[in-house]
Amino acid sequence: ATLTAEATLKVDQPGPKIDKYVYGQFSEHLGAGIYEGVWVGEGSKIPNVRGIRTDVVNALKEIKVPLIRWPGGCFADEYHWRDGIGPRDQRPSRKNNWWGGSPESNHFGTHEFFDFAEQVGADAYVSINVGSGDPTEMREWIEYMTSPGEDTLAQERRKNGRDKPFKVPVIGIGNESWGCGGSMTPEYYSNEYRRFNEFFHKGADNPALRIAVGPPSGGDDDNWTEVVMKQIGSGRMDGLSLHYYTLPTGQWEKKGASINFSRQAWVDTFSRTLKLEDFIVKHGAIMDKYDPEKKVALYVDEWGTWYDVEPGTNPGHLYQLNTLRDGVLAAVNFNFFHKHADRVKMTAVAQTINVLQAMILTKDDKILLTPTYYAFKMYVPFQDSTSLPLELNPPTFTSGDKTLPAINASAAKGKDGKTYIGLANMNPDDEVKLTVNLGTLKATKVSGEVLTAPKMDARNEMGVPATVVPVSYKGGKISGNKLTLNLPAKSVVVVKLD
Ligand code: AHR
Repeated sequence: ATLTAEATLKVDQPGPKIDKYVYGQFSEHLGAGIYEGVWVGEGSKIPNVRGIRTDVVNALKEIKVPLIRWPGGCFADEYHWRDGIGPRDQRPSRKNNWWGGSPESNHFGTHEFFDFAEQVGADAYVSINVGSGDPTEMREWIEYMTSPGEDTLAQERRKNGRDKPFKVPVIGIGNESWGCGGSMTPEYYSNEYRRFNEFFHKGADNPALRIAVGPPSGGDDDNWTEVVMKQIGSGRMDGLSLHYYTLPTGQWEKKGASINFSRQAWVDTFSRTLKLEDFIVKHGAIMDKYDPEKKVALYVDEWGTWYDVEPGTNPGHLYQLNTLRDGVLAAVNFNFFHKHADRVKMTAVAQTINVLQAMILTKDDKILLTPTYYAFKMYVPFQDSTSLPLELNPPTFTSGDKTLPAINASAAKGKDGKTYIGLANMNPDDEVKLTVNLGTLKATKVSGEVLTAPKMDARNEMGVPATVVPVSYKGGKISGNKLTLNLPAKSVVVVKLD
């Protein structure tokens, strides 16, 4: 069947900027995320530049990754930066207690991370150890990374091969401090934050945005946001983090499979991802109380799907496959982030390679680009664009006890001056015919790309040509100031209007 819908685009009422950081990535020392996924070592047969795989860097450059969050996650609160500098053969080997107890060689440390980010062309978001570290360790790491002077830490950095300071635009003060980052109460965390912040010395050498830990994942705890906003205060922080994972069942014990899932599992997954928007609105409203000028941004610095691990793999390595469902879900979330661009200034999908909702999966010298990767690619024109209001009346569809909007969408004026609309059709069965009233926009041509496939769990496989890839979109037409778009079932569409 074909569902119909109407929308109105208001190009004469431009909204806030959609920061490129909204397309950030999260890369933790977890499973094969860093080791294998990024770091293969200089002696590897896999083509690399200074130990960092070239195929992965090239793929990430294509989606214009603007920001990479590192080294965790839970890992960050057990990480001691001194383990990861100096001659690699002299670095200590540690146990990665959070993630399968796997050995951590520390071969990928501060210099290797910045080399990776710089090869990709991304900015760095460094997470500081608050849970098991102290303000001195933080201050010294920041000085090591950023000091331009002659002090001992800057000289040590130079001795280790880096003359100029690294650019560190974003620093997280703790991660999930209510859980793996220290099991703190919001009052205790707020005090800790204030203490660390006192030794942060934000200034010319260290201009980094300071990100405070936000509410527990799941988003239900309003009190955390209340206490942290009130006790830390908007003058001491630049961003508040929000983590939200989409589990098809909503249950951590049995989350649901990444492939071979039912139609109901598809619907359940989307119904859960829609809650992220509710949490952005809810926590945004609490922030408004303490920060009406919106000086503190909301950083959704962990989001994405979390399924049961691929059978036969280490449960601590969070390796899952990635299908069309993940690509459509990414677009749904992008549209939320655009809609709430007044508060949401940065996000980081979890995680870049081989972990959770990954862009890239690797196996030895092979790589696979996932449907999520292609959704990111299609949405590149939204980076640093200006959001435009798009009033949409979505048709709904029902499955079991759930009724969902079939589509969501967002619009923006790109840096190239063109108007872009991004759309996701969450309905697995029906196409949607959308008529958009273009208002005062004078456009005569619509072009774009569509990502879809016959099966809900269609995916790309290692070593064979990818099939779930964006193709040229032919479903749009403009007549007068009306744009019509035929959106195939279970698809992502991005169009450019000329
Ligand atoms: O992304 C995996 C883990 O999920 C992160 O380490 C942690 O911050 C979150 O609980």
